[in-house]
Amino acid sequence: MPTLNDIRKQFLGYFAENGHTAVQSAPLVPQSDPTLLFVNAGMVPFKNFFTGAETPAWPRAASSQKCVRAGGKHNDLDNVGYTTRHQTFFEMLGNFSFGDYFKEHAIELAWGLINKGFGLPKERLLVTVYAEDEEAPELWKKIAGFSDDRIIRIATSDNFWSMGDTGPCGPCSEIFYDHGPEIAGGPPGSPDEDGDRFVEFWNLVFMQFEQSADGSRVSLPKPSIDTGMGLERLTTILQGVHSNYDTDLFRTLIAASVDLTGVKAEGDSAPSHRVIADHLRSTSFLIADGVSPSNEGRGYVLRRIMRRAMRHAHLLGAKEPLMHRLVPALVTEMGEAYPELRRAEAVISETLRQEEVRFRATLGRGMSLLDEATAGLGEGQVLSGETAFKLYDTYGFPLDLTQDAVRAKGLTVDLAGFDAAMERQREMGRENWTGSGQKAEGALWFALRDRLGPTVFTGYESVEGLAEALAIVADGREVDAAEAGQTVLVLFDQTPFYAESGGQAGDQGEIEWTGGRGEVLDVQKEAGDLNAHVVKIVEGRLEAGTRARLAVDAERRARTRLNHSAAHLAHAALKHVLGPHVAQKGQLVDGERMRFDFSHGAPLTAEELDRIEAEVNAVIRQNVPADTREMAPQAAIEAGAVALFGEKYGDSVRVLTLGRALQGDGAYSVELCGGTHVARTGDIALFKIVSEQGIAAGVRRIEALTGEAARRYLLDQAAVAKGLADQFKTPVAEVQGRVDALSAHARKLERDLAEARKQLALGGGGAGGGAVEDVGGVKFDGRVVEGVSPKDMRPLVDEARKRLGQGGVVAYAVVNEGKASIAVAITADLVGRFDAAALARAAVTAMGGQGAGGKPDFAQGGAPDGAKAADGVAAVKAALAG
Ligand code: ALA
Repeated sequence: MPTLNDIRKQFLGYFAENGHTAVQSAPLVPQSDPTLLFVNAGMVPFKNFFTGAETPAWPRAASSQKCVRAGGKHNDLDNVGYTTRHQTFFEMLGNFSFGDYFKEHAIELAWGLINKGFGLPKERLLVTVYAEDEEAPELWKKIAGFSDDRIIRIATSDNFWSMGDTGPCGPCSEIFYDHGPEIAGGPPGSPDEDGDRFVEFWNLVFMQFEQSADGSRVSLPKPSIDTGMGLERLTTILQGVHSNYDTDLFRTLIAASVDLTGVKAEGDSAPSHRVIADHLRSTSFLIADGVSPSNEGRGYVLRRIMRRAMRHAHLLGAKEPLMHRLVPALVTEMGEAYPELRRAEAVISETLRQEEVRFRATLGRGMSLLDEATAGLGEGQVLSGETAFKLYDTYGFPLDLTQDAVRAKGLTVDLAGFDAAMERQREMGRENWTGSGQKAEGALWFALRDRLGPTVFTGYESVEGLAEALAIVADGREVDAAEAGQTVLVLFDQTPFYAESGGQAGDQGEIEWTGGRGEVLDVQKEAGDLNAHVVKIVEGRLEAGTRARLAVDAERRARTRLNHSAAHLAHAALKHVLGPHVAQKGQLVDGERMRFDFSHGAPLTAEELDRIEAEVNAVIRQNVPADTREMAPQAAIEAGAVALFGEKYGDSVRVLTLGRALQGDGAYSVELCGGTHVARTGDIALFKIVSEQGIAAGVRRIEALTGEAARRYLLDQAAVAKGLADQFKTPVAEVQGRVDALSAHARKLERDLAEARKQLALGGGGAGGGAVEDVGGVKFDGRVVEGVSPKDMRPLVDEARKRLGQGGVVAYAVVNEGKASIAVAITADLVGRFDAAALARAAVTAMGGQGAGGKPDFAQGGAPDGAKAADGVAAVKAALAG
């Protein structure tokens, strides 16, 4: 029986034989499409080829594309675990023609693969066509020999496919497999079509139109073909099973979670194992493609999926975080087809582990709250929106997690109530919000981007240039001109100014034009590829259309370059010294320093910091040229470049190589990076870490200096050492010895002083003893001592008792800050005859206080009036005298 991996290979091989270029899956985060949350179909990366906006290098392609359907138009999240087919992550096999072949050959190719390649018999197959498409049924009859009853006409949007609310679309023809009469369900178009008997597995889309936002449709330049076949569904058919979760890949993943939890995938636990297996795939692939869990956008979808899986792990009774321990099984199954999974394995595990540790801290309490809130509710009833919101807000329960959790009891959530609670909180947030009024709405930037095109960045080659001010934005609106004193945002056709991105600060500098001048305070990236210059007009008036000379503060840029390249070297060194789990969590490089945040569980030791610093400096001293290359993102990642989290990569990316490996062959650091960098590693001159600290659970931060700033720092440190040496009149090398000796001396003085105080308290009489008297046959040492704090009384009294040897009682009273206290000790042989606690109590009573505490041989107590200290001693003496 073919495995899922075999089937993927067979598909791609078949289309390669038929003149198609096999294209590697694009990342899940759409590269240049702000309208889509995630890639949700095989055609998404090729959208511009269909619309004619770009020309492909090949007229025919085939791929196995990673897809996530969780959020957006195609959302399967809610059903995962409870049906045989829904998944948040799946692989879509597809063949594409970009204006090359059309309907007839698409059907020929599909039929050739299903019938000859996979050997599926005609009697088991059905097709649907769009009711208005007269051609498709004829072609199916001619090519596959289907009878009319096997070709079902569907008039609904089911057979008109579109990518989203906008984009390429067209009528389609779907191919169904009949799992046999023993499975419930009717053919497509019948009332019980949702059953599991007839399952659609391949959709051939005859791409002919482009849908725009206003609802109108225009014809594409050339009719094209887009097909999509769910690899997991196809595998069920070829492996003779009825559920995606019974295919070899899922069986392996479920076996791993059964193994780790010790809970069989049966009964109520079966959906939990399915959810975990599916969500393991979507979360791992999303993390590998640079998405990190967060509270907004894609990061929040990831967090929702992760937490939903983590609740199911909790339901299965997992005592420890589970998800990260399943990653190796997934990598074994899918790492060959998707090498990014292997490369990101450590990052995936660490991200999953941290999120699960964090979520488990509130999960249990949230579940208790939920159990209480649903205790009185029965089938069909509704959980209040307030409770769902509280779970969301306080316990980190995404709404769909709560919905999933109450589903087992047949409950639903009051969504309107949830929305209302959420809206109330937003209102409150808005009241507290003080905007600068300077940031234009995103929509304005997208409109400007459409009208003006991207800003051309010339700053890799130079730090100066002429450019035209294309648009000026003030207080969120486009304006024609800006006057002296105003601070506005300016777009130029081209610019040497770097816009803040990838953790590199925006450039600063100056602009000049005939009759005016301005300061560039910062540059921000808008709508993906616009460089918005924050310009303070110093003199004159800047009008749209003006030509200006742009000059970056070259010194600052040069320092930024050193810090940015040093950050790359530090990233590689951290991985070498601490391990492959180190993933970049953030960075900030500017003209002052580099700051680098990374995942690591413990503070770095002095030795680790030293090794990191030494490695980076060794690569700096190699002084080899930096190498920057433009490549296709996939080629770059395959060549081993480290792709950064949260970065969006365009059609071509810059790949920066720095240094030679310290061991073995190859480069020291290879990263995708659009920032500005040194020409040779030696330009950095010196790298010095100046701080290391934890900034969040499992995230550390180092800050370092380079070049002249590092030299200055070391000089300042040296100056401090020199100052100390001068003070001690000793060479710098001996300062440490002097400081050690000095602190040893200080400690000795402290000890001597305490001893002297004690002696003084005892009347300055050296060994003491003179005051001991015989009271009824007992040696009694009773006195009022001075200058001793009550907490130092105990050692004093102990010592006095030792001096008495046997048959003795010590009672020392002390006056301290106007209060009296007393400590009483008796030698061991007298315990039983006298009770130190009773004696201390008598003393305290005599001093006008209440109560004392201690043991039979030692007790202490205090009273408010210092003047009565002597009465306490007298009371003890009286008690002994009997
Ligand atoms: N783009 C088509 C689909 O997703 C093939 O079904």
